[in-house]
Amino acid sequence: MQELAGKVAVITGAGSGLGRAMAHRFGAARMRLVLADIDASRLNAVGGELDDLGVAVVTQVTDVSKASQVHGLADFAYEQFGAVHVLCNNAGVAVVGSAWECSDADWAWAMGVNFWGVLHGLRAFMPRMLASGEPGHVVNTASAAGILAPPLSSPYVATKHAVVGMTESLYHDLALRSANISCSVLAPGFVKTGIASSESVRPEEHKNTGPSTDPLVAEVGKYYAKEVAQGIRAETVADAVHDAILEERFYIFTHPEMKPAFEDRFSRIVAGTNPKTRPLAVSSDG
Ligand SMILES: NC(=O)c1ccc[n+]([C@@H]2O[C@H](COP(=O)([O-])OP(=O)(O)OC[C@H]3O[C@@H](n4cnc5c(N)ncnc54)[C@H](O)[C@@H]3O)[C@@H](O)[C@H]2O)c1
Repeated sequence: MQELAGKVAVITGAGSGLGRAMAHRFGAARMRLVLADIDASRLNAVGGELDDLGVAVVTQVTDVSKASQVHGLADFAYEQFGAVHVLCNNAGVAVVGSAWECSDADWAWAMGVNFWGVLHGLRAFMPRMLASGEPGHVVNTASAAGILAPPLSSPYVATKHAVVGMTESLYHDLALRSANISCSVLAPGFVKTGIASSESVRPEEHKNTGPSTDPLVAEVGKYYAKEVAQGIRAETVADAVHDAILEERFYIFTHPEMKPAFEDRFSRIVAGTNPKTRPLAVSSDG
């Protein structure tokens, strides 16, 4: 896309962190905004901030794991502004643990938000975005955990790898159709947001009945909370998203220090050598 002013952006998970920062960045670029989040009070607060800045903004409480609510969000966006040009499937939750130790509830919640949330977004918005013939861009938020495969994070890693793969496949599908829409996958390392407090929005239907039996879960939870608190600013990531849309750049990487770890993983894949186990999670030390 060459021009963002006056265009319409939809952002999920806009009540906090990266979604909130993208909303501010796009608002500064004079886009019109449709913001969605499962948490009404956070969403209203961000809507209010942007309204005070004179940005054209509307909000709709949406659980992205529910297809009907995401289709409702698309109807709402088209009713309000008559078009959607930028779609940011950004809502996500952190669910950690080893594959066999995580409960059905853990898996269903992680898959519901991080994977199905993105897929529902594509299904609800793409047909109308394509039919309009107007220029457009889709940004799916994955993670560096969708490029690497850190330990003790099985649901998160599985969902983020799915988002990277689905978005790269989407890129080819749009190119094969010569569509006027492009796409990007956002794959940051640690960013200072509310992600380590995801449990606060875990719905009743996906609550665990007791504490995790995995002794490493508490440890990895603490590790992630510490790394997130020391992460880069969400505004830096939002700037990168803004620029990638204008440049029609597919991969949005915000942590150059992680490249040696990416290279190491891919060279091991090509060589067929075993993965290297690092002490904990998404390491930036190569
Ligand atoms: N913070 C990081 O270090 C980091 C790194 C890589 C990727 N990410 C990804 O960035 C995205 C945004 O996360 P963040 O870091 O800004 O965290 P955050 O917790 O600050 O923001 C996420 C927002 O998503 C909302 N949300 C949760 N479940 C939802 C649902 N079912 N429907 C709609 N909204 C829902 C939350 O209420 C919250 O406002 C996520 O996809 C996350 O996986 C974050």
